[in-house]
Amino acid sequence: MTHLSPIIAPSLLSANFARLGDEARAVIEAGANILHFDIMDNHYVPNLTMGPMFCEALRNDGIKSFFDVHLMIDPIDALIPRFAKAGASRITFHPKATPDVTRSLALIKENNCETGLALNPDEPLELITPYLDSLDYVLIMSVFPGFGGQAFIPEILPKIQLLRELLDRQKLSHVRIGIDGGITLDNIKAAHEHGADTFIAGSLIFSEDNYDQIIKQVKKRVAETPNTS
Ligand code: DX5
Ligand code: ZN
Repeated sequence: MTHLSPIIAPSLLSANFARLGDEARAVIEAGANILHFDIMDNHYVPNLTMGPMFCEALRNDGIKSFFDVHLMIDPIDALIPRFAKAGASRITFHPKATPDVTRSLALIKENNCETGLALNPDEPLELITPYLDSLDYVLIMSVFPGFGGQAFIPEILPKIQLLRELLDRQKLSHVRIGIDGGITLDNIKAAHEHGADTFIAGSLIFSEDNYDQIIKQVKKRVAETPNTS
């Protein structure tokens, strides 16, 4: 099984929004690899969060990290160029949120961002398999999208393993697999063992006072997984 280098991606949804720039800088300085933005529209999910201006504000504040934009909005196409212009590095969306997945993926590429598709806990891999060769990333949801701080759904773990095997069989080893929702120090190892390489963590990181310490612990747990297969 392919093991891509682990990426720790704090979800800014759980950060202190009154000090967003400082929070973003603090987790990156503490060793996080990228920043995860949860974009919600009170339509695809019952919650309302950030628009492109949040990404732009952080870029203007000098933050150069990889911006991992997770769209939980419907429709999406009109906002793809706006997020790209605002500084998105990768744009991930849910396939049922657009009438034409191929067109939306092409739009992301035209706007020079990496592409990602997200799968809800009750959605099968078949929903994304037709598009695998157009993807840089698949985001497996381990909670139903909408809110931070929910409990991890362990039943999604076999789906990650099947996806990793499928990607490897199709010579798409470079495609990353993210896991998003309810990540704790107790379940992150299992996620890694099943083939996830990108770990979205909101409340786990931002509920701590010491980001250095918690990110160090997260990395340690991931590193405990043997890279044997
Ligand atoms: C859920 C979001 C997640 C979430 C992660 O809709 O996509 O990124 O904020 O937060 P925790 O780690 O608290 O579950
Ligand atoms: Zn997310």
